[in-house]
Amino acid sequence: MAHINTNYKKLPGSYLFSTIGKKVREYQEKNPEAKIIRLGIGDVTQPIAPEIITALHKAVDEMGNPETFKGYAPDLGYEFLRSVIAKKDFIERGCDISPDEIFVSDGAKCDCGNIQEIFSLDNRVAVCDPVYPVYVDSNVMAGRTGEYDPAKECFNDVIYMPCLKENGFTPELPSEVPDLIYLCFPNNPTGAVIHKTELQKWVDYANEHGSIILYDAAYEAYISEDDVPHSIYECNGAKGCAIEFRSFSKTAGFTGLRLGFTVIPKELKAGGEALWPLWARRHGTKYNGAPYIVQKAGEAVYSENGRKQVREQIAYYMQNAGIILDGLAAAGYEVSGGKNAPYIWLKTPDDMTGWQFFDYLLEKAGVVGTPGSGFGPHGEHYFRLTAFGNRENTIEAIERIKRL
Ligand SMILES: Cc1ncc(COP(=O)(O)O)c(C=O)c1O
Repeated sequence: MAHINTNYKKLPGSYLFSTIGKKVREYQEKNPEAKIIRLGIGDVTQPIAPEIITALHKAVDEMGNPETFKGYAPDLGYEFLRSVIAKKDFIERGCDISPDEIFVSDGAKCDCGNIQEIFSLDNRVAVCDPVYPVYVDSNVMAGRTGEYDPAKECFNDVIYMPCLKENGFTPELPSEVPDLIYLCFPNNPTGAVIHKTELQKWVDYANEHGSIILYDAAYEAYISEDDVPHSIYECNGAKGCAIEFRSFSKTAGFTGLRLGFTVIPKELKAGGEALWPLWARRHGTKYNGAPYIVQKAGEAVYSENGRKQVREQIAYYMQNAGIILDGLAAAGYEVSGGKNAPYIWLKTPDDMTGWQFFDYLLEKAGVVGTPGSGFGPHGEHYFRLTAFGNRENTIEAIERIKRL
């Protein structure tokens, strides 16, 4: 008889955004006239930039021509894309990363969910709390987290690193040493960043203890301040302790197109064993590459016009972030984030729980956000709004909240 992987049964409740979707649908059914503004889910709203669309069309035409048709992509991704990534994202920032240390994929979610597979099941995992839920959930599915404690809303064998107002929403080095450390900066959901001197401390700590840092830089393109590293490889010694994840989703609006990459330096080892060959093997066995046309679109992101156009889109979202940040602050809310990330993190008023504030905002203002508790227990009493809406809706949402 077949048996299921019972680790899946340990996952509490339904996925955060399914619950939100259900609540919003129920509200809309009861209030068919209401114009709901969604600033909840982190999906972009601007269309793909013209330069990228041109590259896509060209690549589609190539697929229809026997001379230029492409079948399976190379395992690690096309050389044209890997070399432009290495040059523009790393070498030009002073990071010594070569094209063959870059693994092209269909997005950062899959990569940061799958990466745990190349590590032993007895590795101890540390995560920021709150954070993007994929890191914990993928380790739960693998059986690395122990049992769920509903009272604490934590898994017994995971090291949760609280990110609170008191520490500027960046974690402190844990006293119990983890084997795998997930860091996400700029952070989803808090919008917080880590400064270079602070990140260097994590790199030194990981090198000292033989830990591996799994660094999710999906929102790197939103960094506006100096001294905030775009890549962990800007820190000395990071090639000896860190894997980095990147995504084209929020950088260039590829949430529906799908493209990302993972960087694994050749010299990176865990317990004396190189990680690059393991991920190369996994990639070769379980993944057949991002589509050629999408990799061509990715290449266009780095062209002069492509860069200019995607930067304009990011500036547009960040202007939204400024509107949300200033509007909420003027209305008396305690707010943070929104300067180097498209997320605004606000303290719920009157000690409401995140879900109470969710219902209040939906019913009284028709605005949808995300309760902070969905990202970890220390996210309770906080709420996330995203800057990915269009301008008109963003302004209207803030006006409605101000009127409450
Ligand atoms: C921190 C973080 N990493 C990764 C992802 C997923 O990126 P992708 O669309 O490339 O799978 C997201 C998406 O919201 C995210 O917030």
